[in-house]
Amino acid sequence: MYYNANRFAMLPLLPLLMFLSQANPAAAAPPGIDLARAKRVFDTSCAGCHGPEGRGGKGPSLAVPKLRHARTDEELGQVILLGLPGTEMPPSWHLGIEGVTLAAAYVRVLGANATPPQVAGDIVKGKELFRGKGACAGCHTIGAEGRAYGPDLSDIGARRSAAGLRESLIEPNAEVAESFVPVRAVTRQGEKVSGIRLNEDNFTIQILEASGRFHSFRKSALSELQESPTESTMPSYKTIFPEGELQDLVAYLSSLRGEQ
Ligand code: HEC
Ligand code: HEC
Repeated sequence: MYYNANRFAMLPLLPLLMFLSQANPAAAAPPGIDLARAKRVFDTSCAGCHGPEGRGGKGPSLAVPKLRHARTDEELGQVILLGLPGTEMPPSWHLGIEGVTLAAAYVRVLGANATPPQVAGDIVKGKELFRGKGACAGCHTIGAEGRAYGPDLSDIGARRSAAGLRESLIEPNAEVAESFVPVRAVTRQGEKVSGIRLNEDNFTIQILEASGRFHSFRKSALSELQESPTESTMPSYKTIFPEGELQDLVAYLSSLRGEQ
């Protein structure tokens, strides 16, 4: 079947958005929603990728308090209706407004009932390691604390699984966040700078060093510019933390869900 992409834009999103703005995600089921029907839509159209009860499969777990691409209900409706272009998340326009509404409501119910996964390890010890031995706060913020060089970790427990967090710590190069591309530059005067790329256009580049120093260069003033998207500027902690400490740290990170 071929559908013109323009037809997406023509779809009447308004009733869906109006419904979603009335729905209370903290309730067991939003008012006016038949939970059994919503579950059927989800089981038929979504569970194949997102797992039974949305606990995750090929697609991410949806039974979490916050969704990265769907913070607001408007965004959630759009993600379901239009999919996430460039990923395996497909559009679901074939469900119609009613089906999309039911699926969205069900996703919100899953989120409202989400319980943080149990992660082995001592959260209090992990917090000490974060501030002390790991010196993580030198590069990461949690709430108002720490320095913003790497990504903010205030809700990292809601964004990453325990396994993903462990990988970030022992294998930081495995997946470098797109907005934190490491760069090395040498100026024509011979000054060497390495850090993360904050911004770049055809003529200039802005670089932040781990020390907190900020640089803005004209590219014509550089004799070398190397961007290495597969090489993180975050050190590996593989040999620094023994297994027990690694578990404590992962338990602490998993507990960070944006509430502090
Ligand atoms: C073919 C597999 C597949 C199907 C079917 C599917 N999804 Fe997804 N979905 C994905 C993948 C993969 C992602 C992650 C995309 C990414 O961010 O790279 C995703 C992402 C999402 C997100 C964003 C998650 C976030 O963290 O922001 C939501 C919400 C979502 N899906 C809901 C649904 C709903 C509701 C349905 C059913 C109507 C559905 N999906 C059907 C694979 C699927
Ligand atoms: C020298 C600065 C630096 C230090 C020290 C550092 N990090 Fe990072 N961290 C980064 C940067 C830059 C990134 C983003 C690039 C990447 O994904 O590797 C990152 C990424 C991460 C991520 C993945 C974030 C995401 O959004 O997926 C986690 C988790 C993390 N760091 C935790 C820690 C912990 C815990 C410590 C201490 C044990 C630590 N970091 C120490 C710079 C640092």
